[in-house]
Amino acid sequence: LSAQRRRILSETTKYWPTRLELTVNKGKNLLEAMRSQGLNILSMCGGRGVCGKCRVIIRGQGPLTDPTETERTLLTELELAAGYRLACLTHATKTAGIQIAIPPESEETQQRLVVAGFAPQVRLAPAVMKLFVRLQPPTLKDTTADLERLTEALKKSGKLGPVDIGYNTLRELPGLLRIGNWQVTVSVFRRREIVSVEPGDKREHCYGFAIDIGTTKLAGYLVDLRRGRTVTTVSSLNPQAKFGADIISRITYAMRGEEAIDELNKCVISGINALVQEACRTAGITTREIVDLSVAGNTAMHQIFLKVSPRYLAQSPYPAALRRGLQIKADHLGLDVAPDSNVYLFPVIAGFVGGDAVADMIATEMHSSGELSMLIDIGTNAEIVLGNKDGLVACSCASGPAFEGAQIKHGMRASEGAIEKVWIDPRTLDISYKVIGGVKPVGMCGSAIVETVAEMLRTGTLDSRGRIQEGGDSWRIRGTDGMKEMVIVPKTETGIDGDIALTQSDVREIQLAKAAVYSGISILMRHMRVNPDHIKKVFLAGAFGTYIDPASARDIGMFPEIPLNRIQFVGNTAGSGARMALISSQTRELAESILPKVEYVELGADPEFQKEFVSAIDLPNARKGLFPTVERIIEYNRSSMGRRL
Ligand code: FES
Repeated sequence: LSAQRRRILSETTKYWPTRLELTVNKGKNLLEAMRSQGLNILSMCGGRGVCGKCRVIIRGQGPLTDPTETERTLLTELELAAGYRLACLTHATKTAGIQIAIPPESEETQQRLVVAGFAPQVRLAPAVMKLFVRLQPPTLKDTTADLERLTEALKKSGKLGPVDIGYNTLRELPGLLRIGNWQVTVSVFRRREIVSVEPGDKREHCYGFAIDIGTTKLAGYLVDLRRGRTVTTVSSLNPQAKFGADIISRITYAMRGEEAIDELNKCVISGINALVQEACRTAGITTREIVDLSVAGNTAMHQIFLKVSPRYLAQSPYPAALRRGLQIKADHLGLDVAPDSNVYLFPVIAGFVGGDAVADMIATEMHSSGELSMLIDIGTNAEIVLGNKDGLVACSCASGPAFEGAQIKHGMRASEGAIEKVWIDPRTLDISYKVIGGVKPVGMCGSAIVETVAEMLRTGTLDSRGRIQEGGDSWRIRGTDGMKEMVIVPKTETGIDGDIALTQSDVREIQLAKAAVYSGISILMRHMRVNPDHIKKVFLAGAFGTYIDPASARDIGMFPEIPLNRIQFVGNTAGSGARMALISSQTRELAESILPKVEYVELGADPEFQKEFVSAIDLPNARKGLFPTVERIIEYNRSSMGRRL
């Protein structure tokens, strides 16, 4: 649907939504019907009726339930009159064919994914080594069994002691020895287990695959284990996205029972297998040549990958099912690689600070640095780690999906058609903007939403309580359905059937999200007894962190006032950490050894949290003097333009 459709849209510059005939069974909602017919539209909350993104237009009459209260809140009167409905809240009252149209803002588009990440050099010491062995074929005088013949030869080579063999490899061994004319290459894991046997000399081909399982995206890295080089990087959206954009939606879905967990697990495994195949195709190797794997992911993704129910992560006190790192056979997980390969899973810190955060710490080396540094990885959940070689503290805050565009009227993911940059002229309130893909805009992604709020604050369009001010002569500030909003792009310039605007309630969502991040940082600083001056480096990780304008984030009070030159964008360091675990097996021991150094802080249990959160809702903060830079800018604008703040 989307890429081609978007091109047509941008070429014709005409609003022309996709029309469809949908069969909906009695009692089912439109979203379920679309999924079962293989149609995916945006459903960031996974069909819980919260995000307001699954917008469809009903054509003609249909046996459908009336709009719910939530729809009346999330859709305007005009939209309801035009036939707009939320697919997950619209049920069929009897089985029927329903004519619908999918507006462009609801179509799934290719999201911009961040897979590259900062990583330090590590000494090459992979867990798997390949050895070439020439065996004497059996004779009537020497009927030594195949396995013993092989292990004896390995022992004689002086390179290995006694070794075990994986079950799948054992089953294939007799055939492979003969196909290879008694000359084979053996992959040995940590000098103690044969995980693969290949006919002939294959020492040149020794590969590992590192995986970062994000809630939004999957990233895979094919690594040449002989040279420690990444050969190919591949990525895709996490196919579980159809069950909701955020972790809580996935956990909620998993709570339906075994079948639902199975479904989620199959989604992620098939997504990873598709990446393995793509990487191998690109590199011109077979998937069987992958003999070692490592996986980093947040705790919920980690448990779903293992088919362990994430149910209890959603119940106080939110414990993870397991903390330590794991080694598990690839065939137990259904991965399409050498079946006896071991898959290493990073340890997790807590229910909402997972193996990806451990991988982040390893890649940024904050655990071994003498300087105090802070790592912030913002998604629907923000993970924050603060510390140095003497100790670290970590927390997770529910920043909510607003930074990913959910629960924002014209919010969307960072994909083609999303506004990513916004500038507001403080005198005229004229707006310049930049769109991903250079097409007509259909919405705003998180970085643009944060920038818009920052620009509105700096230009006096917002007061410190986040209230949109009167616009004077400007037509951009107006009231719609009883709510103030600022028009960012007028209808004539958009790729949707209307203006793109930021509403008062959108500003509120951003205030709540940024307050969650700031209060997390603030509580961690308090635990460490440090202030922003002590923090010498701030690592911004993840996709949102890569594109966000740090000055805007700071000015709205998401981060403390730290000099901008101390902020470093590190990209996908979870992926970097996972690669390091392949290149150097000692990284795995390091990951385990970091755990006791990290103190997890449960924000909900901190007596100061509520107070910090409430004062952080203001822009930039109700506590004056914490953000002198933006306070100066606001003061300057107030005096030079007479705008009321
Ligand atoms: S409101 Fe329908 S999927 Fe979120």
